[in-house]
Amino acid sequence: MPPAPQHFLPHTRVPSLLLPNSAAANRFVAREIDKLVRARNAAGKPTVLGLATGSTPVGLYRELIRLHEDEKLDFSKVITFNLDEYLPLPKEDPHSYFRWMHETFFNHVNIKWENIHIPDGTLKPDEIEDFCIEYERKIRAAGGIDIQILGIGRTGHIGFNEPGSPKNSRTRMITLDSITRRDAAAGFFGEENVPNQAITMGVASIMDARRVFLMAFGEHKAHCVTKAIELPPSEAVSASFLQEHPDAIFLLDPAAAAETTAIKRPWEVGPVEWTPERVRQAVVWLSLTVRKGLQKLNDDDFREHHLYELLREKGPAEKIGEEVFLDRLATIQPYPAGRLLCRKPFWSSRRTRTTT
Ligand code: PGA
Repeated sequence: MPPAPQHFLPHTRVPSLLLPNSAAANRFVAREIDKLVRARNAAGKPTVLGLATGSTPVGLYRELIRLHEDEKLDFSKVITFNLDEYLPLPKEDPHSYFRWMHETFFNHVNIKWENIHIPDGTLKPDEIEDFCIEYERKIRAAGGIDIQILGIGRTGHIGFNEPGSPKNSRTRMITLDSITRRDAAAGFFGEENVPNQAITMGVASIMDARRVFLMAFGEHKAHCVTKAIELPPSEAVSASFLQEHPDAIFLLDPAAAAETTAIKRPWEVGPVEWTPERVRQAVVWLSLTVRKGLQKLNDDDFREHHLYELLREKGPAEKIGEEVFLDRLATIQPYPAGRLLCRKPFWSSRRTRTTT
């Protein structure tokens, strides 16, 4: 089978790989983990993985389990640190990340229980600070995280580092953003059941990892991904701090990449071929942006919105606008249920029958 098409998106502040689908991203990351674990095992050394929960990494864990079962990938020397856990939440609770990690991954590979680390959702308030300091110490004692796996929340969080999380933050207790709680509501059978707090590794704890893979799939991630990879790093979107990491990469499916400039307005990041589809995409976007009808667009609208190449090739503006307008008009179906086939109304034929 030929390799699936993939390429790095231009105009991003962090390497962002566009893949044909989430399965390709899972295979990509699993392959990197597989290579490292085998090399470390051969050298008799441990591999330290930073792990994430949520819907995003499920496919990756399945692929790692497959590698374990079919290709004898040995996890006996792997040490793991999970990003976060709800607070308060008993370990056996169906929603706890402790339970989720065991059911989704740990129970299916030969990892040693003593090598698994997950923030503890059962801590009493006066135990939390010491636990967090000890969690950081354990990461350092293990040699630091070799590969960190991340998802991204709609708030732009990594781990549970909600907007406002400082770049130098470490493992700590945080209050969850209302958007994050709303996103978790379905799993908890109602927003009111989602805990308000959590323990999370900090931004700095994540930035210390030697390699970082952030995976994002689906259109609901498109806006936060675009902010994280195109806007300057800021506390408003904690994933944006990964721009300053020396070896971080975003792995995106087409839906998660849909709002990036390279996909949405490719003419802004380099020369494009003005195919009819591209012209339509650009002119409809321009019309919505300047809030004018297609036939009202003028040359200045095109020039002021990076569309001078289009204007030069296909202009003037009135001609392009008119062509796209007619093209769109032709797609309107005035009789969505189909035209009436018989000319005479049905009662006229009935009347004929009764009179004969
Ligand atoms: P998700 O969550 O993988 O369930 O989308 C990601 C996150 O909140 O970090």
